[in-house]
Amino acid sequence: MKHKTQNERLAREVLTDREAKRAFVRQMFDRIADRYDLLNHLLSMGIDILWRKKAIDQLQPAPRWRILDLATGTGDLGFEAGKRGGDIQVIGADLSLPMLRRGEKKNASQTNPVAFLCGDGECLPFADGAFDGLTIGFGIRNMASLDAALGEMCRVLKPGGRVAVLEFSRPRTPGFRGVYNFYFERVLPRIGHLISRDPNAYRYLYESVMRFPEGGDFCRYMADAGFVDVQTIRLTFGIATLYLASKP
Ligand SMILES: C[S@@+](CC[C@H](N)C(=O)[O-])C[C@H]1O[C@@H](n2cnc3c(N)ncnc32)[C@H](O)[C@@H]1O
Repeated sequence: MKHKTQNERLAREVLTDREAKRAFVRQMFDRIADRYDLLNHLLSMGIDILWRKKAIDQLQPAPRWRILDLATGTGDLGFEAGKRGGDIQVIGADLSLPMLRRGEKKNASQTNPVAFLCGDGECLPFADGAFDGLTIGFGIRNMASLDAALGEMCRVLKPGGRVAVLEFSRPRTPGFRGVYNFYFERVLPRIGHLISRDPNAYRYLYESVMRFPEGGDFCRYMADAGFVDVQTIRLTFGIATLYLASKP
């Protein structure tokens, strides 16, 4: 059970300490930035593309909305939002410069480019009420403090603004759950290690998803941060969940 011991050590050393987690997460994404998109689409078999479309469909951005795509990484969720037309302006913020540089390169093929900037989701460089909509895809789990990040997300939204949070969750369907857990804990970290050349990245993915307060627990975090009308949509047997909410 070598992998269990390694996972436990990673969780003890990184996931329980706020500063250690922030530094670990940034350095990890800095290292894997060049292979991030390939790994994403390969390991999810392209389903991540459909999840991002669904997130923006449900957000229902209106013409001339200003949207913040937080933890934007290489920008895919922001690009999806920008495709909806109607002069939507998308700003993408992330902690990792190498991830943002990849996104900047992808801007060349977009009709509505994302304005990328380096920023910490727990201390956003924007005024109160600066955005009509906010998206965050597979980023909230990586924040060192969930309360701080959700508080900032609510602060920078206008009253009546809407948020879409896309995040991994844990499937509950009997049968599927066992097969998926085996793939997620045992197979995916090995393929992830080979392609990303980072032994910890996909071990971290597994541990962080197992520890994330998903479903109703996460809805309570959102409500505590000030969001209302919190709804959840479970995607692909619950591998991921879309959380939608508004600022009152
Ligand atoms: C799994 S990637 C998701 C990227 C993109 N949203 C997507 O859908 O593919 C998570 C991103 O969160 C970023 N991140 C982690 N902590 C952050 C923080 N405190 N502030 C801003 N970005 C952060 C990482 O740098 C990384 O790019």
